[in-house]
Amino acid sequence: FPLLALTAALAYLLGSVPFGIVMARLFGLGDLRKIGSGNIGATNVLRTGNKPAAFLTLVFDAGKAGIAVLIARALVGEDAAQLAGLAAFVGHLFPIFLGFKGGKGVATFLGTLLALAWPVGLAACGIWLLTAAITRISSLSALVAAVLSPLVAWSFGHGEMVALMVLLAVVILERHKANISRILSGTEPKIGKKS
Ligand code: G3P
Repeated sequence: FPLLALTAALAYLLGSVPFGIVMARLFGLGDLRKIGSGNIGATNVLRTGNKPAAFLTLVFDAGKAGIAVLIARALVGEDAAQLAGLAAFVGHLFPIFLGFKGGKGVATFLGTLLALAWPVGLAACGIWLLTAAITRISSLSALVAAVLSPLVAWSFGHGEMVALMVLLAVVILERHKANISRILSGTEPKIGKKS
């Protein structure tokens, strides 16, 4: 049990690292929270026009969750891996390093899925990409991928992941309330549109 708690705590700390803020600072892009949606994720970094910074934010925000899951799996096992994915996600949403005001969790969600069961993760990324190709709206793509993820996990034979996927999808929906009203009113900006 102490090892389980340790891997969960480590996952939370890893998840707490706001790579969007880190990249914006490294690339001299200013304070992300005063740009675009004010969110700390890759989508908002892209609004600065800096594609490498946005790409690195996506990779590192997904990677921190993936690594947390893999560490927990190696040290403890599958249940710990799921808990670590959840803890990294919670870390991104409520980061200790940002006064507990974090992001929307989409990249950390995808990183968690990829590490828990890569076919499920790839399918979720595919759904995101397909929706983005059609609508050019990042938040909508995330919402479709998140909402379909329990079904994807189940249909890929990962019934043990369904409860976690439902929980993450509900939290992602809740976090995107402002995006959802903008989508409904037709004012949600398209991907990469500079602010
Ligand atoms: O990954 C977050 C995305 O779904 C929405 O980000 O900046 O458009 O609110 P943003």
